[in-house]
Amino acid sequence: MRTERLVLRGWTESDRAPFAELNADLRVMEHLPSRLTRTESDSFVDRIEQHFEDHGFGLWAVEASGDFVGFTGLAVPRFHVDWMEEREQPVVEVGWRLQRTAWGRGYATEAARACLRYAFDVLCRSEIVSFTVVGNTRSRAVMERLGMHQIAEYAHPIEGRDAVPSVCYLSTRPPT
Ligand SMILES: CC(C)(COP(=O)(O)OP(=O)(O)OC[C@H]1O[C@@H](n2cnc3c(N)ncnc32)[C@H](O)[C@@H]1OP(=O)(O)O)[C@@H](O)C(=O)NCCC(=O)NCCS
Repeated sequence: MRTERLVLRGWTESDRAPFAELNADLRVMEHLPSRLTRTESDSFVDRIEQHFEDHGFGLWAVEASGDFVGFTGLAVPRFHVDWMEEREQPVVEVGWRLQRTAWGRGYATEAARACLRYAFDVLCRSEIVSFTVVGNTRSRAVMERLGMHQIAEYAHPIEGRDAVPSVCYLSTRPPT
């Protein structure tokens, strides 16, 4: 997919090194369970590619001015919590992770708008959710810019750790 400034595309081998770099960056990973090693980052890319095979959509690699800057896309969550029961099935989230130098330019919102349009127009979804930890104000601001509204506060399960206080937002229409 193309937006005014970005290309959302499938992953290439050359995305793996810059992706590992951003997954090791403390600022980028501040609100995520932990920074990733190169091996963990590569396994994540493998899972993303498998998700595309299984569902036909996924977390697209995002390019700005020809450079890989992170991902934005659609994914079926791998956990289950109460608020999911009342939602369209399978639940699909819109999510994003960009390298630090790509923040503050509106890229995440621009890419996510294209993903929401794809979800509503091509996948014919009625609903898309997004979730993050309560304190991730940048991510919540993206959700709000997309016109999403908060529908739940919940404890987000993390394997081998205490659950983390989190919020879920909902979109039921294409963004303007
Ligand atoms: C979440 C994340 C993608 C948000 O990035 P972001 O840069 O804050 O969000 P956007 O790309 O939408 O950019 C919006 C900012 O760009 C500014 N901006 C500059 N030029 C702009 C333009 N041409 N158009 C739109 N906005 C522009 C906006 O004013 C806004 O700035 P502000 O933060 O000072 O209000 C980023 O912080 C990130 O990757 N975090 C780590 C991963 C993460 O937490 N992911 C979510 C886990 S659930």
